[in-house]
This record gives sequence, C-alpha cells and structure tokens, in this order.
Amino acid sequence: MALLLTLYSAAHFSAPLCMHDMRSETARNQGNGRIDPGQLFLRIPSTDRLREHLRYYTSGTHVAGINRTQAEHTRDYLAAQGVDAKIVEYYPWLNYPVNQRVALFNESTQAVEFEAGLQEDVIAGDSASEDPNNLPAFLGLSASGNVTGQLVYANYGTLDDFRALKAAGVSIKDKVVLVRYGGILRGLKVQGAERGGARGVLIYSDPADDGYCKGKVYPHGPWRPESSLQRGSVALIQVYPGDPLTPGYAATKDAQRLDPKDAKSLNGIPSLPLSYRDAEPLLRALVGHGKIASEISESWVGGLTARGVEYWTGPSTLAVNILNHVDFKTTPIQNVIGRIAGSEEPERAIIVGNHRDAWCAGASDPSSGSAVLLELARAFGELMKLGWRPRRTIIFASWDAEEYGLVGSTEWVEDNIDWIRADVIAYVNVDAAVMGSEFRASASPIFNDLLFAATKQVGFPGSNETVYDAWLRQSQMVQSSDNAGLAKGHNATPPVYTLGAGSDYTPFMSHAGVSSLDMGFGGGLGTYHSNYDSFKQMTTFVDPNFELHQAMTRICGLVVIRLADDAVLKLNPISYAKALGGYIRELERQVARHSAASSDVTTMKRFRRLRAAQRQFLTNAHLVEQSKHRLRSVYGEDCQMAGRRRRMNCRKLRKSINDRMSRLERHLIDPDGIPGREWYKHALVGPGRWLGYEAQIFPAIAEAAEDHDWKKLRQYEKRAAETIYEAAWFLREV
Ligand SMILES: *[C@@H]1O[C@H](CO)[C@@H](O)[C@H](O)[C@H]1NC(C)=O
Ligand SMILES: *[C@@H]1O[C@H](CO)[C@@H](O)[C@H](O)[C@H]1NC(C)=O
Ligand SMILES: *[C@@H]1O[C@H](CO)[C@@H](O)[C@H](O)[C@H]1NC(C)=O
Ligand SMILES: *[C@@H]1O[C@H](CO)[C@@H](O)[C@H](O)[C@H]1NC(C)=O
Repeated sequence: MALLLTLYSAAHFSAPLCMHDMRSETARNQGNGRIDPGQLFLRIPSTDRLREHLRYYTSGTHVAGINRTQAEHTRDYLAAQGVDAKIVEYYPWLNYPVNQRVALFNESTQAVEFEAGLQEDVIAGDSASEDPNNLPAFLGLSASGNVTGQLVYANYGTLDDFRALKAAGVSIKDKVVLVRYGGILRGLKVQGAERGGARGVLIYSDPADDGYCKGKVYPHGPWRPESSLQRGSVALIQVYPGDPLTPGYAATKDAQRLDPKDAKSLNGIPSLPLSYRDAEPLLRALVGHGKIASEISESWVGGLTARGVEYWTGPSTLAVNILNHVDFKTTPIQNVIGRIAGSEEPERAIIVGNHRDAWCAGASDPSSGSAVLLELARAFGELMKLGWRPRRTIIFASWDAEEYGLVGSTEWVEDNIDWIRADVIAYVNVDAAVMGSEFRASASPIFNDLLFAATKQVGFPGSNETVYDAWLRQSQMVQSSDNAGLAKGHNATPPVYTLGAGSDYTPFMSHAGVSSLDMGFGGGLGTYHSNYDSFKQMTTFVDPNFELHQAMTRICGLVVIRLADDAVLKLNPISYAKALGGYIRELERQVARHSAASSDVTTMKRFRRLRAAQRQFLTNAHLVEQSKHRLRSVYGEDCQMAGRRRRMNCRKLRKSINDRMSRLERHLIDPDGIPGREWYKHALVGPGRWLGYEAQIFPAIAEAAEDHDWKKLRQYEKRAAETIYEAAWFLREV
C-alpha cells in the first residue's frame, strides 16, 4: 500500500468538480481524510489531453537543436502546471545532411546503372510524409566523404558476420559494404567495416526484419514499406555517449574540446541508410559474384528473395559511389528541466525523463513519451492543487539530442555529477512510451517489486486484465518460443531486462550509479526512425484511443509517486542479490563458450570469488529486510508508534534503511571503469563492446574471455568481487 498522506481539510478544498468527486470517493474508501495520492492520481490522465500533446509534438520537425519552440512549449507547459521549469543548454558537436548520393556505375565507361532515390514516398492522407523539412537519407554523426568501391554484402555486419566473410575468402578492403539493420547498434556495423579497411557503409532495412515478411506494410499495416529508410546515429556510444568532443565533462559554451579527429566515439568512413527499394538493385549487382550467401549460412539470406533476388557476397564488378556531405558544427541543444520541491526530504530527488528530439515526426519515438511526460506534469499539478506535496523532490527532464547518442542527458549528468551522486535516488526513463501493445521494462533489479506493484494497479486497455497480467501472459508466449536472452523472470513473474545503453538512463545507471528504470509498450512497429512513425500511423495502427498512452502515464506516475512519497522506499535489495546470482550463471555460460574454443583448457567455468561475494550480498540484503520489519513492528513506517522520545531513533533507522537501498547502486560503481572505455563504470552491467544497445553482464570479465586473456579475466573477477563485497558491506546497518 502506498503511504497515506494527510492532505488538507475539506475547507481548503477548491478543486474542479471532477476532483471533488474523486476526493470524496477516495476519502470514503480510506476513511478519516487520509488520501492515497496514487489512487487519486490514477483518475487524472486523460486520453484527450494525451492526443493533444502527441499532435503538438508531431506537427513539426524536431531534430536535435533545430526546434527551440518545442523546448519553450515544454517549459511553459510544465510551468503552467506549477512545476518550476527552465531550459538548460549545452553545445555539442552535431551534424546535419547537406548532399547525399548513392549510385551504381560502370567504372570503365562511367555509365550510371542505378541512382538511389534516398527519399521516402509521400503517402496520401499522412501529412507528416509531405513535410518539406523531412530529412533525406542520413545517419547522425556519420563522417563526411565521397567514396567509390566495389560492393560487398555482409549480412548484419556483426563481428561474426565479418569473420564469416573473411573465412569465405571475401575481403572488404577498399570496398563499399552493404549491411542490413538488426542485431547490433548501427555504429558498430560501420566500425566493423572500417576496421576491415572498407571505404563506406550502406545500411538498409531488409523486408525480413521489419517489412513485408512481417505483415502488411504502411499505409495498409504497421510494417515498413519499400521506400522507407531508418535514420539514426552511428556514434560509438559503447565507447562513450554524449558530445563526441567533451567525453566525461559537460559541453558548456566555453568547455575545452577535443579535435574531432581524436574523438573516439566517431566513425571515420561515410555511411548512409537505404530503403529496400534502393537496396534491391545493389543486391542484384552482386548476383554471381563471390559466394552465394546461403553457403555461408541461411541466416544471411534476407526477404528480397520474395522478389527474386539471390543474396551473394560479391564483390561486384560494378562500382558504388557514396557521397555523404554533412555539415558538422558546435550547436546549442535544449534540455527542459522542471522541479517540484519535496516537503520532507527536499534534498532527495527522483528524476523522470524522456527525450524530445526525433529524426522525423517521431510519433512513437519519442513523442508518445513526451506526451506522457506532459500529462504526468499536469496530473501532478492537479494533485498539488489539492494540497499534495511529494515528500521528496521530483525532477522532470525533457532531453534533447538523445538520437545523436544520448547527448542532452549525458551532458546534464556530467554537469551535475556531484549532486546527482549525493542526492538522486532513482531515474525513471520513458522513451517510446507506445510503439506497440506489449509492456516491456528494463531496470536495476532493485525496482522489480515496485514495477510489479504499479503494473498490477493499472488496467490493460480493452481487457479485464491488469497490465501486469498482460505482461506476464505475453512474456510467457515469447519465452516458450525463445529461451535465449537475459530475461530475469522466473515463471512466476514477468521478465525485467537488464539495462544496456539504448536510451537516456545510460548516464544515470552506468556513469553515476543511480538505480534506473526504462519502460514502454513495444513490439509490432516497422516504421522506426522513418517519416511514417507519424500521428496518422499511431492513430491508425497502434493506439487509436490513446488508452495505451493513458496506461503508460498511470504506470509511470505510480512509480514516481511511490518513489517520491513512500516513507520507506519500496526497493528490494534481495531481488538485486538474486538477479546477481543469475548474472554470474550467465557469465559462466558465456565464458565456457570461449574457453571451450580456446587451446588453453584451464577451467574457467566457475567464478568462486564472485559466487562468494554474491552470497554475502544476499545475506546482507536480508539484513535490510529485517531492519524494515523492525521499523514497522516497533515504530510504524510513519514513526506513528514511536513516542516523542523515540521519534529520533525511528527517523534515524528509517533514513538508514532508505539510504542503504537507494544508494546501493552507487556502490556497484567501479571508479576505474570498464577497461578501454572507462566512462562506463558499473561493475555488473554495461553495453556490449560488439552489441551496443544491449546489456553485457560483467563486461570487463566477459570481454577478457572473448579475448582469451585468462590472466586479465581472473584479475577482473577479483576486482568485481571486491566491488560486490563493498556493496554488500554497505547494506549492513550502521
Ligand atoms: C517546431 O515545432 C512546432 C510544433 O510542432 C512546429 O509548429 C514548428 O514548425 C517547428 N519549427 C521548425 C523550425 O520546424
Ligand atoms: C564524388 O566523387 C565522384 C567520383 O570520384 C565525382 O565524380 C563527383 O564529382 C564527386 N562529387 C562531389 C560532390 O564531390
Ligand atoms: C562496363 O561497360 C563495358 C563497355 O560496355 C562492358 O564491356 C563491361 O562489361 C561493363 N562492366 C560491367 C561490370 O558491367
Ligand atoms: C470483462 O468482464 C465482463 C464481466 O465479466 C465481461 O462481460 C466482458 O466481456 C469482459 N471483457 C473482456 C474484454 O474480456
């Protein structure tokens, strides 16, 4: 149960009628005038308002740094709800498209065989597809260049794909590499090609991955039509996110900057995205050259076979020219930061954030999240009109330039690192709040109970289930068809995934050590980062009645209210300890694969030190539970049973419990960071070196195993175990 607050007397009550109804009903439910703000809150989110917010954000382009109006609107809207809001600017190094070309031609005659369109078709009835400000084919932070070479196809462009190509005797040196989207972060595909000596990279959307092989294409269904292309950033965020020129510190106006050629998060060769309509002639130019792809593996064959295309590796005899002329500049971006001061522990803060910038109209990514953020602010404003003040401070963040590589959030965290480490107890992220109808969450395991509780309180649209029920049911369907992955759920609870580096939680979790959580309704949308992720598409195929938006606002609000209001935080270090046990088992599996392949047969199978540290962590996590129990039975969570003289003792115990839980993540930070990319400091999780978005458990250890460096592996195991012990000691009552 949420903490019941004594809010106000009926005499001070001057809210609109609907509020009045809610108050009296809730008061009746709870008796004696104590009102549960969570219950009150659940009634407020409005589908009509959410629709209005989404219409606003999708009505004009808002690529990072080019729409200050939307930042001002966000600030002003928050302010009108009684939130103290301001714009906070940084000055990162970003680029914008100037001139792009992809052509296939005969080098001896110079005859052009095919010129790619690089534009998405206008679709009648979807005004977003006609916006003259829409970007052409473009990848954020891609290198400028004009390169020509024979073409080679490299499937998804993963490390394994490049190895398989090499094993098949196909070199990518001086070639233009064609890869398809999927599997790993874009930037890694370009990095892999660059390391192999390629001159340029084209990344296309294959119909097998999000086009007609999945279902009907837009405007007849939610999947990607033939002219659609996926924009995105090719920054190497697994090295460090944020401004490429100010790693580890804020990109303020006068900050010292790296020379761009020294920026380790930038790729050096040009790259562009392609639709499958533009990719088809390129794939056809490969037919008969090199190896037939199915001989490498069936997994190399994409969905254009339905159009009679055979997949071959090449190299082609025809040449491909990529022109990617981009304009790089130091340019201002606008975060909007709003604040509701806490009443009892104002120095402790919960941050709820979402990015605002989008490649296109961005209805799902991220404007559905921006709509949720505004509606959340409005709902909290209504609660404040009723006299509610959160116990702890709530901070709203509308980030800019997430799309280029988590830039707005990273610069802000770097700028405020000291007080964030001292006082921020949780970061709640919403990015694409609604991209489908399957609830998904990734989080520090300390949040599991809170997530389950919140999703049990919210109904799943169009059914009699709660979101929790639907989440569990849908995840069981997925699990039965796919046992892989890092889902941490037992059969009894839905999976809460491990955080990687896919959105603005990254600087909080991985750099500052703030427990973070990311959630949204996902699945089923094929028009990611295209002109067709539009208001029209959202209201036709995804959430016509805005009920998923409403459910998301409710879940997000409940989580924030509980974090801000509960006298004793509903965080669970025991869940963390158990998840940690799962991480170690997963690490052992991964390392066994590498050690089996190695000539060094010293057994690497068991991580005894880590296991011992995990047991200590679990034991001490139980001590926190015991303290909670003692607090409840001796004093009551509100210290209401402690007489005057013992109230101090109660408060001291309660503070110790809350601190031990909410600062635990800080103690899982290794100040030395992951070797080779020290910006990432979490000892247990980080983005994979070759995965990017996705989480890698114990990155330092796993990567030592990948490199077959068993000496380093033992050294890193020792270091990780020390960090876990340190966190375990911190859990003991002082
Ligand atoms: C900024 O966004 C607003 C609202 O979506 C829109 O009306 C305006 O045209 C956009 N400005 C630019 C420069 O695109
Ligand atoms: C790009 O390179 C091609 C081939 O070398 C050349 O013909 C063309 O003029 C160049 N384009 C630009 C814009 O420099
Ligand atoms: C290029 O054009 C010449 C002259 O027409 C022709 O002989 C040659 O086969 C062409 N090369 C390719 C790769 O098509
Ligand atoms: C919800 O429950 C009611 C009453 O049991 C039933 O009539 C209705 O059909 C159910 N709705 C759905 C969508 O299952």
